[in-house]
Amino acid sequence: MRNLLGFWTSVLLCVTAFAAIEAAKRNVVCYYGSWAVYRPGDGKFDVEDIDPTICTHLMFGFAALDNQTYKIVAFDPWNDLYADGGRGAYERFVALKNQNPRAKAILAIGGWNEGSVKYSYMAASPERRKGFVDSVVPFLQRYGFDGLDMDWEYPTQRGGVAEDRENFIELLRELKAAFAPYGLLLTAAVSPGEQVIDEAYDIPIVSELLDIINLMTYDYHGAWEQWTGHNAPLFAHPLDDGNVTNFNVNFTLNHWISNGAPPSKIHLGMPFYGRGFMLDDPLENGPYAPASEPLEPGPYSRTEGFWGYNEICEKQTTETGWTVVRNEYYKAPYTFKDRYWIGYDDYDSLTEKLKFVIAYDLGGAMVWSIETDDFRGNCHSRRFPLLHHVWEDLNGEVAPCVDCTVPTSAPPTNEQCPHEGYFAIDCTNYYYCQLVPDGGYQISYFTCPPGTAINVDIGGCDHDYNVPGCGLRGVV
Ligand SMILES: *[C@@H]1O[C@H](CO)[C@@H](O)[C@H](O)[C@H]1NC(C)=O
Ligand SMILES: *[C@@H]1O[C@H](CO)[C@@H](O)[C@H](O)[C@H]1NC(C)=O
Ligand SMILES: *[C@@H]1O[C@H](CO)[C@@H](O)[C@H](O)[C@H]1NC(C)=O
Repeated sequence: MRNLLGFWTSVLLCVTAFAAIEAAKRNVVCYYGSWAVYRPGDGKFDVEDIDPTICTHLMFGFAALDNQTYKIVAFDPWNDLYADGGRGAYERFVALKNQNPRAKAILAIGGWNEGSVKYSYMAASPERRKGFVDSVVPFLQRYGFDGLDMDWEYPTQRGGVAEDRENFIELLRELKAAFAPYGLLLTAAVSPGEQVIDEAYDIPIVSELLDIINLMTYDYHGAWEQWTGHNAPLFAHPLDDGNVTNFNVNFTLNHWISNGAPPSKIHLGMPFYGRGFMLDDPLENGPYAPASEPLEPGPYSRTEGFWGYNEICEKQTTETGWTVVRNEYYKAPYTFKDRYWIGYDDYDSLTEKLKFVIAYDLGGAMVWSIETDDFRGNCHSRRFPLLHHVWEDLNGEVAPCVDCTVPTSAPPTNEQCPHEGYFAIDCTNYYYCQLVPDGGYQISYFTCPPGTAINVDIGGCDHDYNVPGCGLRGVV
């Protein structure tokens, strides 16, 4: 359609930029919590808000396990799929690879809220395992995913049974065999807790079967306790007692490695959020201060005991009176004001954790999760300050294909971007004009998968026969 010349100039720029890019030295595994699309105001985060140029692995959270058929299903069909007038988030997510062809798009199944019982029951019988495995390959292929991330939290726990340990291995073995002909990746998110690790995972075998091990090195302390403690302490605090001495990142990492996980497969979890409490007494505000109530919900994530980094930094920059303390054992900050107390991670504490990634020569870092970064740049001078920091600490300054999304030679003209939204170039190529803080627009280009065409009305790829002039019906 209009401005074809401008588009092809940008494509050329993009191709040139890709050719010059080295493979990332270390992986940056980026989880996306897709429910953030329902958050209000500046917390709302849709697929197109992702910056795929500073991730090596884009993880879509989450798919679900159907409790009747024990097959993989979309958790939120309206948001995830195009069927029945849905928003097609899966395919739009996979299309982000057009901006960074080196990135892998992986579908994660499970998560905390799915619980363990369904997975335990599915994994317990060879027939149900086979039904599940047989459902996964076509499901991934239908939407173009490059692999599956198993987020069963956790085998043997939360209603699971002792046999889960063996059944989890069988499940991974069968998935790996089914994935091999298609080159699909098999990854998993695993527990940080000593007791859970020892019961749930046969570490040498699990490590052999997985391409990537995502260590969930966070949620060590939170509002389920009656006193303050940090979400993701690097080291033990002197007041830690009994098995709590092992509730820290250093212990978890060493435990996985000393039990046989190869560092090259380990990806160390970086929390982009904090966990918090309401102090019983504002004057008692250190570690292990009495705190019998959970932190009040934040304006975007609206969850007791939890604030995203964006919610924390926006409070700190718009209100006075927030004290930040950097604890020498946590190697991470906590912040408090009146009765509010939150243990979280910021630029400097991530630096400490990234030093571990390099010192232990790990495969890379994992981020939970990108939609609570300061992704609009409301507190900092650029978007995704934490994610940029993780990328740059591990892989250096140059992010892949910057020219791809921001043509440096010529900003988009009014004709290219008359307003924020989607614009078709032809049936399968389209672009998105996003308003940026300086008042201009940033363009991102996309290509629809075979059999689909851009439907600007829904802001994504649709069955080609639904778009006038694009499908067979249009031609005939
Ligand atoms: C199965 O899942 C559906 C939908 O989430 C739920 O309504 C139902 O109660 C579940 N059934 C069982 C047996 O857990
Ligand atoms: C701490 O260890 C004891 C056994 O020594 C165990 O019963 C308890 O569940 C553990 N607590 C946690 C949170 O791991
Ligand atoms: C880190 O963990 C290792 C292995 O468990 C331990 O030997 C070391 O003392 C820990 N470091 C600190 C500072 O606690």
